[in-house]
Amino acid sequence: MIAGAQDGDPFIEFVGVKKRFGPKRIYEDLTLSIRRGETLCILGGSGTGKSVMLKLLIGLLKPDDGAILVEKQDVVPLDEDALLPVRRRISMLFQGGALFDSITVAENVAYPLREHFHMSDSEIAARVEERLEMVGLPGISEMKPDDLSGGMRKRVALARAIVADPEVVLYDEPTTGLDPVNTRRISELIRSVQQRLHVTSIVVTHDLGSAYMVADRLAMLHERRIAAVLPTAEFRRCPEPAIRDFVSAMEEQQP
Ligand SMILES: Nc1ncnc2c1ncn2[C@@H]1O[C@H](COP(=O)(O)OP(=O)(O)OP(=O)(O)O)[C@@H](O)[C@H]1O
Ligand SMILES: [Mg+2]
Repeated sequence: MIAGAQDGDPFIEFVGVKKRFGPKRIYEDLTLSIRRGETLCILGGSGTGKSVMLKLLIGLLKPDDGAILVEKQDVVPLDEDALLPVRRRISMLFQGGALFDSITVAENVAYPLREHFHMSDSEIAARVEERLEMVGLPGISEMKPDDLSGGMRKRVALARAIVADPEVVLYDEPTTGLDPVNTRRISELIRSVQQRLHVTSIVVTHDLGSAYMVADRLAMLHERRIAAVLPTAEFRRCPEPAIRDFVSAMEEQQP
């Protein structure tokens, strides 16, 4: 973190990003600024490139053109080694959760700590239990992911995403496949994690209800660019036909 950085400062910026896969153009001129401390939701139809945006940010994919700045540092030219410190600061809850089924919950949650940090076993165990408590799952560390419900697996994945005190948490469809009770619980956790750990959050979703609950601002990915970015309350009452059409299309898409 840069000395003197404050909540509300531009933290992550996509500037004129272009990306294509073969003949398929995903973004033409993607520009978006995410402020320190906010929760920004990215809304968009299936296949519009929401997950790709998150993967570009942590360097799993490279754009064809444009810059992606993390506190003014362009991450696009960075190689795998140079990306390591960036990935320490920005953690991602992958679409689907991606837990390892053969190891215990505790080993899953501890994984980023063992990868990046030099902590003793007892420090790791204490941190793992603390983060499991934060997501409302104390005392399950010796269970295997297979023994958990879908909602619990998502919460374990969230505990893993926050175990190493990231500055930014990226959530890719955190509520997909969950019933309304678990969707609400995850949405509440996203907010409480943001408040307790003071993280900046980017949440990709096509669940409008969850987006309205967690977001400070909403960005709409449409026709290969960010077509609108508005505070949540303004987005909800914005009469602009493009936004209303988009919202009705998203509502039709809801499972
Ligand atoms: N590594 C890749 N190679 C080729 N095509 C890809 C790759 N990753 C993504 N794509 C394509 O890019 C487009 C955008 O993908 P992305 O996964 O970002 O969509 P999405 O908005 O997250 O959709 P969903 O809501 O279904 O998760 C899709 O058409 C996808 O098939
Ligand atoms: Mg996706």
